[in-house]
Amino acid sequence: MIIRPRRLRKNEVIRNMIAETAVNPDSLVYPMFVVEGEGIKEEIASMPNQFRFSIDELLKELASCVAVGVKSILLFGIPNHKDEMASSAYDKEGIVQRAVRAIKAKFPNLYVITDVCLCEYMSHGHCGIIKDGDVDNDPSLELLAKTALSHAEAGADMVAPSDMMDGRVAAIREMLDANGFTNTPIMAYSAKFASAFYGPFRDAADSAPHFGNRKSYQMDVRNGREALHEVELDLEEGADIVMVKPGLAFLDVLRQTAEISNVPVAVYNVSGEYSMVKAAAKMGWIDENAIIRENMIAFKRAGADIIITYHAKEVLEKGIL
Ligand code: PBG
Repeated sequence: MIIRPRRLRKNEVIRNMIAETAVNPDSLVYPMFVVEGEGIKEEIASMPNQFRFSIDELLKELASCVAVGVKSILLFGIPNHKDEMASSAYDKEGIVQRAVRAIKAKFPNLYVITDVCLCEYMSHGHCGIIKDGDVDNDPSLELLAKTALSHAEAGADMVAPSDMMDGRVAAIREMLDANGFTNTPIMAYSAKFASAFYGPFRDAADSAPHFGNRKSYQMDVRNGREALHEVELDLEEGADIVMVKPGLAFLDVLRQTAEISNVPVAVYNVSGEYSMVKAAAKMGWIDENAIIRENMIAFKRAGADIIITYHAKEVLEKGIL
């Protein structure tokens, strides 16, 4: 036998020397939930160690995040008021808008990305305006663009539309540019699948649809080629970053996206993926830190530049990478 791959696995020095993949700690983005009120730090039942924070508590938490090296967050708002036009999504005094102003005042160097969607703000829990029992695409674009603009006005560094309406990247780009926010990047949730892995998030954000499901706008999990079409469209519309979501069950889509994209690629390690790790760890069935590390490496190896993950803080805190 001439060829023996084991020669290069002999000890840690040689293994480290030839390691192909390293996760950049600066490319981790930490999703966080903000609610109305004061003094609130409420653990999300289905997402251990993730919380809904009121703005005051969020600022305290951010101090400890920044201290361990969190550079960027993805912010989700949970409003008190919901209606049929998602009016608190684009209210200057809305929860996200006030939170962003408070965060940027205290942590000017923390990079704040806002999730742009309407589901948390709609009384029915869908991601756009409802007409005849389904989301009406084009009128919803106007509300999404207004929402993105109000986030930028509040000081958001980047906006991230997650609604999956056709044409929303272009609509948001146009609205931002018309109002002087030509330098605010858009991270598009480009290939976002109608996935059961969002279950715990919908508890966290109180955004489950009250009737039907999201299959008329989010992608069918069976389709890979269609995901690339979505990515191409978002690139044409001016997306600065494209995203694949969820991550673990869609690593093939992530790899293919990385191959066709000439802009950075993000992956969203979603709530269900996080909760499964936490649940198995709690049962004592897995080595939690090793599993988290392996998942992060999988995203990187599959082609992700940016990893959005609820594990971000603990990864940095415990030096898991
Ligand atoms: C809003 C949105 C969702 C997620 C991110 N933005 C939920 C959904 O589409 O139902 C999911 C995030 C996660 O599961 O961690 N549309």
